[in-house]
Amino acid sequence: MREYKIAAIPADGIGPEVIAAGLQALEALARRDGNFSFDVTSFDWGSDRYKKTGALMPEDGVEQLKTFDAIFFGAVGAPDVPDHITLWGLRLPICQGFDQYANVRPTRILPGIHSPLENIGPGDLDWVIVRENSEGEYAGSGGRAHKGLPEEVGTEVAIFTRVGVTRIMRYAFRLAQSRPRKFLTVVTKSNAQRHGMVMWDEIAAEVSQEFPDVSWDKMLVDAMTVRMVKQPQSLDTIVATNLHADILSDLAGALAGSLGVAPTANIDPERRYPSMFEPIHGSAFDITGKGIANPVATFWTAAQMLDHLGEVDAAKRLMIAVEQVCADGVMTPDVGGTATTRQVTDAVCEAIRGANL
Ligand code: IPM
Ligand code: MG
Repeated sequence: MREYKIAAIPADGIGPEVIAAGLQALEALARRDGNFSFDVTSFDWGSDRYKKTGALMPEDGVEQLKTFDAIFFGAVGAPDVPDHITLWGLRLPICQGFDQYANVRPTRILPGIHSPLENIGPGDLDWVIVRENSEGEYAGSGGRAHKGLPEEVGTEVAIFTRVGVTRIMRYAFRLAQSRPRKFLTVVTKSNAQRHGMVMWDEIAAEVSQEFPDVSWDKMLVDAMTVRMVKQPQSLDTIVATNLHADILSDLAGALAGSLGVAPTANIDPERRYPSMFEPIHGSAFDITGKGIANPVATFWTAAQMLDHLGEVDAAKRLMIAVEQVCADGVMTPDVGGTATTRQVTDAVCEAIRGANL
């Protein structure tokens, strides 16, 4: 029996609702398979803890997570706490502390979900965005001087390192190689940003030599938005900087019909530390407690977690179940359905039990 130690951090807003749904599906998969199980520990970290104690997690929080096989994360952010505090108080220290440098964001149009693009359906849009997750525009480098005075200055310095860029390029080329089309698009802005981005392009060309069977092209980030809308079929695996990929992945989610179904994995490819899996959608306070949060993004990221843990069949089974339930029209209101979180979750668990795989 393989047992996986999972740290659950449901955190804020609809986080607890979708993580509960995700854990229920993982439990159903373990029971269906019979050869693995989960040992889940829940952590009450998040904005409520911040309001009571002044910190979103304990000082040794990252240390406490070290011994887990994976982290299953809900959402962080509260209307009455500034966003940069919640982000830098919980999610980024984990991503950066565990050097989860590859952020992997698959996008597909699930059956039954309507893309805003005309004449585009499942199969026309099947992308994986690889986001550099440890440096770039999110390095946290910069400062403020002469605060409040007319001559105040603020700097926000993007950091690109040869090590950082090389490893994310390798990860992206390897991922592209593992997909049927073996095709990578490297996103850049080296026309305007002539230092870090030019190095990014050079390293992409160098790393491409190691992958002669992968074809690749290069896109300026602004033109990339147009290509994503006009020729979605022309893209497959995409690699971009931390900020560029942040923006492109929102566009990708919208083109696939809803950000409510978009998952993300924060991966330490070297497996020195636990990787972290989370839905992209955020805490969504407007629907918190209403029981209508869409659990699909969390199921999808749970499938990414299973893949990472080596439970490849269970990951496939989960996605088959999700696609079947979407195709049957059992969906939450954000994607045009009338079902509750519980109804979607129960239907997915039922489909897991019945899945042929
Ligand atoms: C994402 C989110 C975060 C980011 C926010 C919540 C800071 O938009 O995961 O894409 O920008 O990284
Ligand atoms: Mg984002």
